[in-house]
Amino acid sequence: MEERAGQPRTIELNDGTCMPLLGLGTWKPEATGPDMCQRAAEAAIAAGYRHIDTAYSYRIETEVGKAIQSKIQQGIIRRQDMFIVSKKMGDELFPEKDGKMLTTNIDYVDVWKGMEALKATGKVKSIGVSNFTIEQLERLLSVAKIPPAVNQVELHPYLVQSDLIDYCKSKNIALTAYSPFGSPGRPSEYQRGDADPRTLLEDPVVGDIAKKHRRTPAQVLLRYHVQQSIVVIPKSMKSHHILENTKIFDFTLDEEDMNALRSLNRGWRACIITQLESHPFYPFK
Ligand SMILES: NC(=O)c1ccc[n+]([C@@H]2O[C@H](COP(=O)([O-])OP(=O)(O)OC[C@H]3O[C@@H](n4cnc5c(N)ncnc54)[C@H](OP(=O)(O)O)[C@@H]3O)[C@@H](O)[C@H]2O)c1
Repeated sequence: MEERAGQPRTIELNDGTCMPLLGLGTWKPEATGPDMCQRAAEAAIAAGYRHIDTAYSYRIETEVGKAIQSKIQQGIIRRQDMFIVSKKMGDELFPEKDGKMLTTNIDYVDVWKGMEALKATGKVKSIGVSNFTIEQLERLLSVAKIPPAVNQVELHPYLVQSDLIDYCKSKNIALTAYSPFGSPGRPSEYQRGDADPRTLLEDPVVGDIAKKHRRTPAQVLLRYHVQQSIVVIPKSMKSHHILENTKIFDFTLDEEDMNALRSLNRGWRACIITQLESHPFYPFK
């Protein structure tokens, strides 16, 4: 990855671990061919990514593992060079009964105790949360022995979430921005009509800033986060996009650019699970 002197590529988490500011997202809702994710992860490691975001529910952890193994065997990386993020679930993904998604009453505070125990085993280096609101973080922090190192949430200029950013900064909880392009690759059944951020890459304000800096809209949207010390995890299965998305450490958006991007805020989310709206811990209100 290109890097201009003085532009950091990692942040230090509250547990002392270093986390790369850029990671590869791997959620692939659209149909992809076999091994596509493995090839994307290999291309990313070759392009300099040292952080891959994955999850049990994405059903591609094996492919990510194979990519890491092959790059270790080629002598490109050591396992300790890689920051791998995952999110665990039960064996049955999204169980349903009578057409309704089943939920549990397990309190996230109790889940967190399990996460703390996991960290104590040394099998994971850092523990964090995803899609937590300020209220949920407050409650967790009031009982946690180990504070979450990271909160991974949807963030982009159509969903600025300044209060959450300020709160996490004040508590030394890092943020990871998911769906930084508004998740344009989602199939239509996942899209949310007129209030969907999927056209963010085509926004003229983003386009003008990109022209000004001789960059692409994608690079501007990624730079917007890393400049705020927010980790960002664009997903791509295409090697030319994977490479393009690394070139964000050698230019700077000025205050006017940052304000113009923030002014696009309209509260549009790509990721909402409406079937779970009635759950007491539903975070997307
Ligand atoms: N914790 C959570 O609840 C949660 C929820 C959603 C997502 N995530 C994580 O965040 C990651 C990213 O979010 P996302 O996948 O929803 O969406 P995203 O990263 O905003 O957008 C991905 C889409 O952008 C395209 N793209 C990538 N680079 C591009 C470029 N340089 N120029 C033009 N188009 C480009 C990709 O197409 P190509 O593949 O064709 O390049 C893909 O269709 C996920 O993959 C996942 O790891 C976490």
